[in-house]
Amino acid sequence: MTATILDGNALAQKLRADFKTRAEALAAKGTRPGLAVILVGEDPASAVYVRNKVAGCEKASFHSEKIVYPTDVAQDVVLAKIAELNADPKIHGILVQLPLPKHFDSDLVLEAIAPEKDVDGFHAENVGALMQGQPRFIPCTPYGVTKFFEEAGVNLKGAEAVVIGRSNIVGKPMAMLLLAQSCTVTVCHSQSKDLAFHTRRADILVAAVGRPRMIGPDWVKPGATVIDVGINRVDDPAAPKGYRVVGDVAFDEVAPKCRAITPVPGGVGPMTITMLLANTLEAAERSAK
Ligand code: GUN
Repeated sequence: MTATILDGNALAQKLRADFKTRAEALAAKGTRPGLAVILVGEDPASAVYVRNKVAGCEKASFHSEKIVYPTDVAQDVVLAKIAELNADPKIHGILVQLPLPKHFDSDLVLEAIAPEKDVDGFHAENVGALMQGQPRFIPCTPYGVTKFFEEAGVNLKGAEAVVIGRSNIVGKPMAMLLLAQSCTVTVCHSQSKDLAFHTRRADILVAAVGRPRMIGPDWVKPGATVIDVGINRVDDPAAPKGYRVVGDVAFDEVAPKCRAITPVPGGVGPMTITMLLANTLEAAERSAK
């Protein structure tokens, strides 16, 4: 079987062309979409993600603000900043990069963001709306995954979908979105007893585990559509930076069995930032109405 390689860079570019048209229409009405990104601490992976999010805004001619705090900043300082951004008309989206340091109550911080500016879709109000099938903001990574299904014309109705990972950021919202498309959804996690039993039944397999190349060809049903959300660094002395980025799926071995598969890098990653821009634009359009 020759798998369709789902190219996240190409799809992101296509979607961003449409954003440009919409942003220009907004600009004509005097509104420029604006995103504020808050980063607490020095986690190198988070710093890269935040840099890429701000760069994505700049490329799309959105206004962006990056607010960086040291690891030991008091939670109240961050809450005060969120309150200020909630009231700032230049800002339509607010994102607090996760994970936060241990002395933070992450739920409290996320709940402090005005739901209409919660472009991550992590506020309880937005989580509830998604669960009720009336999403207002869909979390960016699973939102991007749905765009791959649309683009590749994957028939989801009645499909067996297996999601590995139950995080609030990916696994749970992904399961809700697949359910809304009439998949039969199984959510697996670190305590699941026989993971391969489930994955081998999957017409749609979404891996969001964080373990390099964990999913090999014998875990995948022939003709499955495989979405790899993993971004894992593995040491590689021959690589220019001394490491390589690989997914949760052993791409080279699994791809020949699939109908369609996302590569890492160049699959889900570029789509996540694209959907953040989509949510920010959507927030700006709603505020201009
Ligand atoms: N950390 C890892 N992924 C995400 C994300 O999508 N949003 C935020 N805010 N933090 C993250």
